[in-house]
Amino acid sequence: MKIAILKESGAETRVAAIPETVKKYAALGAAVAIERGAGERASIADAEFEAAGATVGARAAILADADIILCVTGPEPETLAGAKRGALLIGALDPARRADAMAAYRAAGLDPLAMEKLPRITRAQSMDILSSQSNLAGYKAVVDAAAAYGRAYPMMMTAAGTISPAKAFVMGVGVAGLQAIATARRLGAQVSATDVRAATREQIQSLGAKPIFVENVAGIEGEGQGGYAGEMSPEYQAAQAELVSSHLAKQDIVITTALIPGRPAPRLISDAQLATMRAGSVVVDLAAEAGGNVEGCVAGESVVRHGVTIIGAVQLARSLAADASALFARNLHNFLAAFWDKESGGVLLPDDDEIVQAIRAA
Ligand code: NAI
Repeated sequence: MKIAILKESGAETRVAAIPETVKKYAALGAAVAIERGAGERASIADAEFEAAGATVGARAAILADADIILCVTGPEPETLAGAKRGALLIGALDPARRADAMAAYRAAGLDPLAMEKLPRITRAQSMDILSSQSNLAGYKAVVDAAAAYGRAYPMMMTAAGTISPAKAFVMGVGVAGLQAIATARRLGAQVSATDVRAATREQIQSLGAKPIFVENVAGIEGEGQGGYAGEMSPEYQAAQAELVSSHLAKQDIVITTALIPGRPAPRLISDAQLATMRAGSVVVDLAAEAGGNVEGCVAGESVVRHGVTIIGAVQLARSLAADASALFARNLHNFLAAFWDKESGGVLLPDDDEIVQAIRAA
């Protein structure tokens, strides 16, 4: 059984294996071949992969007899010419936006597995690339906001006077939002947070932040399918907008992370609401690629409106390439190890398995 690790292209900085997972694959009995330079942008030299037991070579050489191809971002199908028919292609293949590429992989005889489609079940937690990368994105959003903010986060009492603490508001408390709360708290901000899922109230409190929640409106439990948020009633949306408006005007840092699977991101902050914020405030919109939670947000750019900086954050985990690669690589290893069949020395993916069905159907 041979596992090939691709060198990513374009803006992608991460790599789908690290020396630690190379050793673990070897322990399972697999041989690992790394494309030359694959780890460079994540600060892993070819020599480190070799020291862990991998071979290093050009794309054509590593693909030739690979049974499993690991990647972070889905590669252009034509760059996989020469791959063996029946080989598994595993990574964040983005089937929702890359249906043509998925069809091309299949036409070439590959078996593409889209890891972002993993069900949110306990058994899949250690394989969950969305969680591992969102967690880092939540942290980085707060750090990026700090860099763009012309003031300090913590209260400082100095001989020259006192600096008051920044007020940070996290909208959407999934994996990224929880990490954003924790990071902003560690940096000394006064943190509040909101979500449509009632279950997050306790999580917000347990992190020492203040929950801002709509009360006494029908449908406030907010939970849709599979633990994700559902779309809220117009009544709820109006109550939320009113509550958030008065709160937003007092905030210095806002991190928005709200997503609804398969739908455009919900609009949480209007231009009129932005105009009520203090000049110099910073809003980081982690939903930028899904249409944005903030009016006027531009994905991949930082724009200033009414004196407020809006950062349209895109793929923030890429800016933490070493840690993001390590977590991503372990997610992939946990997946392969869970389906490893000792007898045949390879991966066995049962058709009736919930995880297999979800990532293959994409
Ligand atoms: P997500 O990225 O889909 O959404 C982020 C957050 O935005 C969610 O908390 C959502 O409720 C919230 N949101 C949506 N619309 C909103 C609105 N109008 N106003 C305010 N907030 C809004 O969420 P993520 O991080 O993927 O987590 C989704 C769920 O999956 C959570 O319940 C999480 O605990 C669960 N989960 C389970 C895992 C497992 O058991 N394997 C692993 C990771 C997450």
